[in-house]
Amino acid sequence: MLKQLEQIRKDALAELENTQIQDELHQWRSKNLGNKSPLMGVFTEMRDLSKEERPKVGKLANEVRQALEAALEQKQAALKLAALQSSLDTEKLDVTLPGRTISRGRLHPVTQTLRRIYAIFAEMGFQVYRSREVESDDYNFTFLNMPAHHPARDMWDTFYTDKEGVILRTHTSPGQIHAMREYHPDPIRVILPGMCFRYEQVSTRAEMQFTQVEGLAVGYNITFGDLKGTLTDFARRLFDADVRTRFRASHFPFTEPSAEMDVECFICGGEGCSVCKQTGWLEILGSGMVHPNVLRYGGYDPEEYSGYAFGMGPERITMLLHQIEDIRYFWRNDLRFLEQF
Ligand code: DAH
Repeated sequence: MLKQLEQIRKDALAELENTQIQDELHQWRSKNLGNKSPLMGVFTEMRDLSKEERPKVGKLANEVRQALEAALEQKQAALKLAALQSSLDTEKLDVTLPGRTISRGRLHPVTQTLRRIYAIFAEMGFQVYRSREVESDDYNFTFLNMPAHHPARDMWDTFYTDKEGVILRTHTSPGQIHAMREYHPDPIRVILPGMCFRYEQVSTRAEMQFTQVEGLAVGYNITFGDLKGTLTDFARRLFDADVRTRFRASHFPFTEPSAEMDVECFICGGEGCSVCKQTGWLEILGSGMVHPNVLRYGGYDPEEYSGYAFGMGPERITMLLHQIEDIRYFWRNDLRFLEQF
């Protein structure tokens, strides 16, 4: 039995020597020191030994147990140290390296344009009026002088919701009615920025989601001259002090008369190029004198009050300012595009 104990010690230590992984130490422990280990078997069998033999075997068995336990502890410490050393070797930390730069956010190019527009109109006494993106059919069309089945509704094909008569607004113009109903009979000078939606064939020039900035002035003796002066000055402040503008007669159901404003093409300087489709002019907004029916829907008597309104597309304006050729870049969330502004 003494021999057997020596063999147990030898085998166990040899096995421990070959163990290089921390997890395997558990297995070694239960195999060599656990209840079912050969060593524990010896302790059990000792009961049958003679009185003379028992102390000798017992002494050695205890020695072997202590030796194995000590060896295990040593091995554990050694493996731990090795793991630490290897992580120190592989994960070197150089505290003298410069820190990682924090990537800084920036404003979306359209937000930048919007803020420039706000600033210009603020100087001219226009307040920002926020208006909802989900609208009723009445506000988007009817109160803007487009009764049900009016053919002009086709120009603003929209997204419908499950709820009858509730739609996503196709332009910021319904905000005119909200502002008038809130402020009447006081005079109004507001701009109404925000997101619009259209059921639209998406192309380089048209998106199903885009922003607009509407403008509305209502009061006494407001004339087309006020409209022209305000918008011409706006264009000069936004683009260039001596940019040339022109007004072209147009039609919108909610204004009478109506006009579109063009600015001289600053790519070709009016010579004619592919951006301005050889006309020398770029359209930037629609405008006109508020239609009497719209004033009435807003709560103003058209015999007493008059007003002008306009609507522009900040994406289009941003495209002109930065010579961007595809409107789809704006809401595609591609950082390669957004990081350029
Ligand atoms: N709502 C028009 C559109 O989305 C733009 C517009 C034109 C707005 C003339 C106006 C206006 O206020 O007077 O195409």
